[in-house]
This record gives sequence, structure tokens and C-alpha cells, in this order.
Amino acid sequence: MGGAREPIGVIGTGYVGLVTAAGFAELGHEVWCVDVDEEKVARLRRGEVPIYEPGLEELLVKHRGHLHFSTDLADALAHARLLFVAVGTPPTYSGDADLSAVHAVVDAIPDADDRSLVMKSTVPCGTGASIQRVLKEQGRTRLSYVSCPEFLKEGSAVKDFLEPDRVVVGDNGDWAGDAVVALYEPLGAPLVRTDIQSAEMVKLASNAFLATKISFINEIANVCEQTGADVVEVARGMGLDDRIGPKFLQAGIGFGGSCFPKDVDALKQLAGNSGYHFQLLTAVIEVNELQKRRVMSKLVKHLGGLVGRRVALLGLAFKPNTDDMREASSLVLSARLAADGARVSAYDPIAEEEARKLMPGLEFADSALAAVEGADAVVLVTEWPEFRDLDWAGVAEQMSGWLVIDGRNALDADAVRAAGLVYEGIGRA
Ligand SMILES: NC(=O)c1ccc[n+]([C@@H]2O[C@H](COP(=O)([O-])OP(=O)(O)OC[C@H]3O[C@@H](n4cnc5c(N)ncnc54)[C@H](O)[C@@H]3O)[C@@H](O)[C@H]2O)c1
Repeated sequence: MGGAREPIGVIGTGYVGLVTAAGFAELGHEVWCVDVDEEKVARLRRGEVPIYEPGLEELLVKHRGHLHFSTDLADALAHARLLFVAVGTPPTYSGDADLSAVHAVVDAIPDADDRSLVMKSTVPCGTGASIQRVLKEQGRTRLSYVSCPEFLKEGSAVKDFLEPDRVVVGDNGDWAGDAVVALYEPLGAPLVRTDIQSAEMVKLASNAFLATKISFINEIANVCEQTGADVVEVARGMGLDDRIGPKFLQAGIGFGGSCFPKDVDALKQLAGNSGYHFQLLTAVIEVNELQKRRVMSKLVKHLGGLVGRRVALLGLAFKPNTDDMREASSLVLSARLAADGARVSAYDPIAEEEARKLMPGLEFADSALAAVEGADAVVLVTEWPEFRDLDWAGVAEQMSGWLVIDGRNALDADAVRAAGLVYEGIGRA
């Protein structure tokens, strides 16, 4: 590429694609982005950022002249030999990943010696091999293929792109793998260069392991409730063990998001499709579903029936610092509450616009204090930092009841109790 930085193509401008594009622009590359969503592309062209992700807007503004957005693949094909694929791979009814968007992209890329697909989308192990098989059958033998799974976390995605724990590149040992490795070299992260299947499996296994850790500590929390132990203390004691570590040991009302639920399901299905019953993951998924509903039994324990009761939900996004509502625990909780006759109000600092599309029956408030007005119970669903510093005396004044359920064990229990409220966490004495 004659000294100039390698131009990059990014197909799909969602959470992963947009962050990847902004990240490569920050590293000095010209980036050609493509998306089928005309409205999204129009917004990006106008300089609007369609998602909330800390630091993303700043990078998009800073590199505006080097980021090109189009609905036409031709622009990216004309300028870039590496085409990063970052389209969605949502779950199907069977739990398998829906690869239709990935296949649509693969079908649209013409054969060429100096062109490679670089798969960022999370795909089942074996997808790269099957794509390469199809390309060969179609006579498209010059197109290269690299697996480069993405590990960014929503809420800190820009930082995760620029300071990754590791970079994984799975390839056939040709120019394209070398080129992708060279792209990431300036970041100085540990590199795992391996075969395509193993790279695909690193991604699925990593998410499945993290989900397992969460379901594990949630089950410990549930046993703590039976035995009088406090899971926060237990997790602190466990986490100081180097072999365990403190991360992903926060008990709560279950994991959600666009990745963990679908990737755990996809790995379970992948195993099943190849004749292996992955028992552990079956339990991880079931524990998580039950955990989302535990708040219901806590509410009933304190309030009796829920008919006509007013419940305020603090936080709706699947985790703090994002507006992503996919598979959020709040969706299950609000549906269960409505089904049991409760009236539900809610406040989320950022995710309201997304939440309104998915939760039509909810009353949305424009502050935490407004949401808790007249509430019999308040449930912390998403641990946005601002909820930790709530004025609990003010909350108590607004509420008509006295119950605070801390679904993420994120609040200061003493401060809540000092306001005359009843505090109940998850797995806490
Ligand atoms: N979101 C995360 O935190 C995260 C982290 C790691 C990996 N992943 C994986 O990355 C992939 C993308 O996830 P996401 O959260 O960014 O999804 P997303 O839904 O936010 O974005 C996907 C984008 O692809 C576009 N698209 C769909 N079909 C297209 C096509 N044929 N051509 C061009 N664009 C097309 C959509 O319009 C959308 O803008 C998924 O496989 C996901 O599992 C996501």
C-alpha cells in the first residue's frame, strides 16, 4: 500500500461497525462504511451519531473527513481491499445464529486477488469454512477470508477498540491475515494468530464463559439468601483469588444485551447440531431466565399482590452507558409486572427512545425522582452511576410505599435505610 495507511471498508455501521470505523480512522486510516439502512447512513452523513457510546461522537467528529458513509458497496470496493463485515447475526427461533445478513454481504463481494472479507460479526464456528467452500463452488477462488472476532463491550467500546486485551486473527496464512495483523499492530495488544475455526471459537467460548460466571454468582446469591450469607462479601472474598478474579462476579437480575444471550444459545445449538449436548450452557441460560424473574417474588413477598400497585423501574438499558435495549432484563420485568396488574413507571438517562419502541405500556418519567412519585416499590434495574448518588430522603418523600429492590447490588444500603426505606438486594443478608 506504498507507505500510505491501508484504506478500510466496513460493512454494517451498528455498534461494532461504527466503533471499528472510528477506531481505524483514529489510527490514521481512510474508512469507507456501508450500510443497508438508508436512514442511518443519511444521519451519519449529516454528522449525527445513531447510537450512544461514550467517546464515539468525538472520534466521528474529529475524523469526519476520513470517514465515508454510503449505502452502495461500490465505494468501499473501489477503495479498500480489506472489507470488515460487522452486520448483525441475531438469534433465530431455533437458537442458531441468523447468518442471512452475513451471506448477503458475501454474495455481493466480487472475486478479486487483492480483496478479503474480514469477519467481525460473531458467527458459529465453521462459518468461515462453509463460506470459503461456497466461494470455491462458485468459482470465486481469489477472494481471501479472515476471521477477526470483536470483543468490545458496549459502554466502553471505543476504549476497548483502542486498548484491546487481545487481538485474534484466524486466517489461511495469506496476505490478508498479514494485512489485518499489521492494522492492529500499533495497538500493541497480545496477538493470537490462529486458524479460522479456532478464532471463531475463541469468541463464542469467551462470551459463554463470562455468561457462565454471571449465572454462577447469581446461583451463589440465591443460596446466600437461604443461608444468611451476603453475596457481595462472598464475591469479594472469591475475587481476590488470582485464579478467579473480581470481574463478572456481581450478582443481579441476570444478563441481557445483544451478545451474551444469543452467543450462549448459538454455542449450545452449534454443539447440539454437531451431536454434543452442552449441559452447562443449558443451565446457564435457564438460571439467567429465572434470575430476571426473581424481583417478582421479592415484590410479592413484601407487598402481597401486585394488582394496582405502582412500581418504578430505575434504568432500562441492558447495562449502564448504553442505549441498547436488546434482551434487557427490564423487558421481562416490565412485562411480568404489567401481566400481574402493576402500574409501571420508569426512567433511564439515555435509553428512553429505544425503550419507548419496545415498551408501549410504560409511563416514562424524565428523572428518577419523577419516576418514583407515588410508587409502592422502586426497583434498580440498570446501575447507571447517577442512581448510586440519589437523594434517598427525597425518594422516600416522593414514594407512597417504602420498598427499594436493588437488582444490581449497586446502591448504598445504609443510605437507603437511613431514609426510612426497606432495602432488599440480591443475595444479601
Ligand atoms: N454489540 C456488541 O457489543 C458486539 C460485541 C462484539 C461482537 N458483536 C457482533 O458484531 C456483529 C454486529 O453487532 P452490532 O451490535 O454492531 O449489530 P447492529 O445491529 O448494531 O448493527 C448491524 C448493522 O448492519 C447493518 N446491515 C445489515 N445487513 C447489512 C448488509 N447486507 N449490508 C450492510 N449493512 C447491513 C444494519 O443495518 C446495522 O446497521 C454481531 O454479529 C454481533 O454479535 C457485537
